[in-house]
Amino acid sequence: MKMKLFLFVIAVLLIQAFAEASSLATDASHAVASMNGGVSEITDIDKRHEHRPHKINCSSACARRCSKSSRKNVCHRACKTCCARCHCVPPGTYGNKSACPCYARLKTHGNKPKCP
Ligand SMILES: *[C@@H]1O[C@H](CO)[C@@H](O)[C@H](O)[C@H]1NC(C)=O
Ligand SMILES: *[C@@H]1O[C@H](CO)[C@@H](O)[C@H](O)[C@H]1NC(C)=O
Repeated sequence: MKMKLFLFVIAVLLIQAFAEASSLATDASHAVASMNGGVSEITDIDKRHEHRPHKINCSSACARRCSKSSRKNVCHRACKTCCARCHCVPPGTYGNKSACPCYARLKTHGNKPKCP
């Protein structure tokens, strides 16, 4: 009789332990899931933040910028490098660089303005 009760108690304890372990596992996976949710949210914000400057179409912006250049290929190549780096091309075909401080700042190895 005593032995039966003992076994019953053990069984209950085992079941409780199992239930606790599985609920812990569920909690853990919830935590991971919400962590992933948080991470993907942050990534989304980063993407959005990064996305905005990329909105500029460097090809068409530089085609416009270099449309009056005497060396279109040279102009276009430099402009695209600058545009990719700065996400900005100044308005007009020359000058106006104050509209794009980053674009204005870039220098060649010879310390000349890099961007057309
Ligand atoms: C940029 O503009 C050109 C010409 O308007 C177009 O063909 C090209 O698909 C555009 N690129 C992007 C990334 O929008
Ligand atoms: C500077 O940009 C303006 C438009 O914002 C344009 O009208 C002007 O022609 C540009 N200057 C040059 C030198 O291209």
